[in-house]
Amino acid sequence: MGRPGTGKLTMAFVERVFSGVQPTGNLHLGNYLGAIVNFVKLQETHNCLYCVVDMHAITQPVEVWGGPAELARNTREVTAAFIAAGIDPKKHIVFNQSQVLEHAELAWIFNCVARIGWLNRMTQFKDKAGKDREAASVGLYDYPVLMAADILVYRATHVPVGEDQKQHLELSRDIAQKFNNDFAESIRGHGFDDGLFFPQPEPLITGPATRVMSLRDGTKKMSKSDASDNSRINLTDDADTIAQKIRKAKTDPEPLPSEEKGLETRPEADNLVGIYAALSGRTKADLLGEFGGGQFSAFKNSLVELCVTKLSPIASEMKRLVADPGYVDQVLFDGAARARVIAAETMQATRDIVGFVSKR
Ligand code: TYM
Repeated sequence: MGRPGTGKLTMAFVERVFSGVQPTGNLHLGNYLGAIVNFVKLQETHNCLYCVVDMHAITQPVEVWGGPAELARNTREVTAAFIAAGIDPKKHIVFNQSQVLEHAELAWIFNCVARIGWLNRMTQFKDKAGKDREAASVGLYDYPVLMAADILVYRATHVPVGEDQKQHLELSRDIAQKFNNDFAESIRGHGFDDGLFFPQPEPLITGPATRVMSLRDGTKKMSKSDASDNSRINLTDDADTIAQKIRKAKTDPEPLPSEEKGLETRPEADNLVGIYAALSGRTKADLLGEFGGGQFSAFKNSLVELCVTKLSPIASEMKRLVADPGYVDQVLFDGAARARVIAAETMQATRDIVGFVSKR
């Protein structure tokens, strides 16, 4: 195409999906329904990259991510979960972040584009850092900038995530836009006539379970870090554990309502019905038509059965894959090699646009 310095990069954005999951242990039903289920679906319509974000994992204190052996184990476990849930690592790209150095390189450039004021507004940093912000790592503060680099190093256009990532995605869009503005002339000079080098990645926050709540407190998000294991269903839980956790799940004394608006002031009931809807592919209204007016126990029994039917095959496939680290590592290695080809192309053009002198 005769455009200087941009290699084979095309001007029009190719629709491409990117998303990431942290290897910090305890993958749970929220990760599955809020993110992984959508990863699986998008394979039908898009080219997808699914990344185990090990560099994000180490932004937390070492006690949280568990140290080197645990990090490696969890990286393989998340990879196993992807594959067990139905992601095809041959057709799409599955890899771990630290094997593609361009993520870190682009993050540095984005550090110089993003503003401190933007990062100061990030609610997840405030939640994760807690009261003693001075003791948080610089990496934790910078987390959303690395996220933007993850996405934009592939010039990805669509990002399936749970509700809690919405603000981070908005920051990625702001960074893409500011880069395009700051370097507009250079971007045009390198053959991108419309001045758009990075796309504005679109968050895909879809389905009835974009925010799965804790089983112990319907006002709190289901989370890997909750001290109570009863607050979440882990993807590796066996049938008995799933049954126990659902039977113990907090509810209120009223029977289930017959209409959806009856769930509005009942977060625990709403959460369980949402989980059922997401796992079964039925609407909440349809479920309340069947279970409304009845006691929670009947609904919970049916939910246990559904959860076990859906999750047990994933758990056993995960177990099989984790027992074969050679295979899992090969998937990550192959995926990283393919990811690197795309990332290298974006990075070379980015270096040229910024004005970094390099040998090509
Ligand atoms: P992580 O590992 O915390 O979460 C992985 C995915 O699970 C979703 N999720 C939930 N969805 C519904 N209900 C819940 N209770 C729940 N808990 C977690 C998250 O929204 C996420 O989609 N920052 C990302 C990792 C990341 C990333 C990226 C994502 C790094 N770089 C680039 C997209 C694009 C995260 O929080 O992962």
